[in-house]
Amino acid sequence: MKLLMRISLLISISVLVSGCQEEAKLPEKSVFKEDETVQDEEPLKIGFAMDTLKEERWLKDRELFEQAIESRGLEVEIAAANGDDALQIAQAEEMIQEGIDLLVIVPHNAEATAAIVHKAHGAGIKVIAYDRLVKNAEIDLYVSFDNEQVGKLQAEEMLKLVPEGNYVYIGGAPTDNNAHLLKKGVFDVLQPAIERGDIHIIYDEWTEDWAPEQAFAHMLEALEINGNQIDAVIAANDATAGGAIEALAQAGLAGAIPVAGQDAELAAVQRIVDGTQTMTVYKPIQQLSERVAALAVDLAQGNAIEPTASINNGKSEVPSVLLEPIAVDIGNLESTVFADHFHSAEEIDGME
Ligand code: GAL
Repeated sequence: MKLLMRISLLISISVLVSGCQEEAKLPEKSVFKEDETVQDEEPLKIGFAMDTLKEERWLKDRELFEQAIESRGLEVEIAAANGDDALQIAQAEEMIQEGIDLLVIVPHNAEATAAIVHKAHGAGIKVIAYDRLVKNAEIDLYVSFDNEQVGKLQAEEMLKLVPEGNYVYIGGAPTDNNAHLLKKGVFDVLQPAIERGDIHIIYDEWTEDWAPEQAFAHMLEALEINGNQIDAVIAANDATAGGAIEALAQAGLAGAIPVAGQDAELAAVQRIVDGTQTMTVYKPIQQLSERVAALAVDLAQGNAIEPTASINNGKSEVPSVLLEPIAVDIGNLESTVFADHFHSAEEIDGME
């Protein structure tokens, strides 16, 4: 009897012990399992290779894209190359080696960035071009605002104010495909008036790296060459518009000559309120960053995506999504830039 009891006791103890081991193993296992699960559910990692943070908008893009990605439970690795092509290639390569699941890129140089796309594809990583197109590479998706439309909105507003006269065009960076799209949009609208002889393009230059100081120098030269006989200025973005307006101010002409810009920078909104800049083109960055984040998740998970356009980049018809830009002047600041909290009226003198 005693022997039987001892045996059953031993059995129940061993059952207990194995049960505990199970328990002990479970977290391990589950850890392993969990590990496994964690491995399986390791968050997707997105690389965001930016050109620069020099213009105000890119700071917003970085912040909003980071939020949009993290709010979807993904990880994001961000780098900015300050306009240096070699650095941008090195930064993207590093992200690829670190095992990102998808690359989102704002190319500094539309051509040079093709090399990055080849490297990413070589590692089985898809690439989304953010705001600016990569040329001559089979990118998987391009998402931006309709940049030709940006140029059209600028030219339409200026033609309304200055149907006849001398126009100055301060272009963007020739390495940036957007600068070419913007210019095409502007000249598509101005061409009929040019052909009628109503308006004359008396100065037209690209601005390396969108540098305001170079736009300033261009404007000074345009004023000098034309004896200040200028009736309208279209600048490819607000940073270059700011440089041009400084030169106009030096000639005592700020506020006397209509100036168009792009990006709805805070300083540009202030100039619109002050009357030294006529209009800007507002691009709701919130929409762009959210849209790219959603499409990045789909592409990284191998889900189907729904492009709304296709753009030939010299290599292929690139599936694209183009968002609507908005013309902004003193008449609709409230219902656009302020309504979206892109800026607040409190930040602008003279808007209290
Ligand atoms: C363009 C962009 C503009 C502008 C510029 C300078 O590609 O579309 O918003 O700011 O770059 O960075």
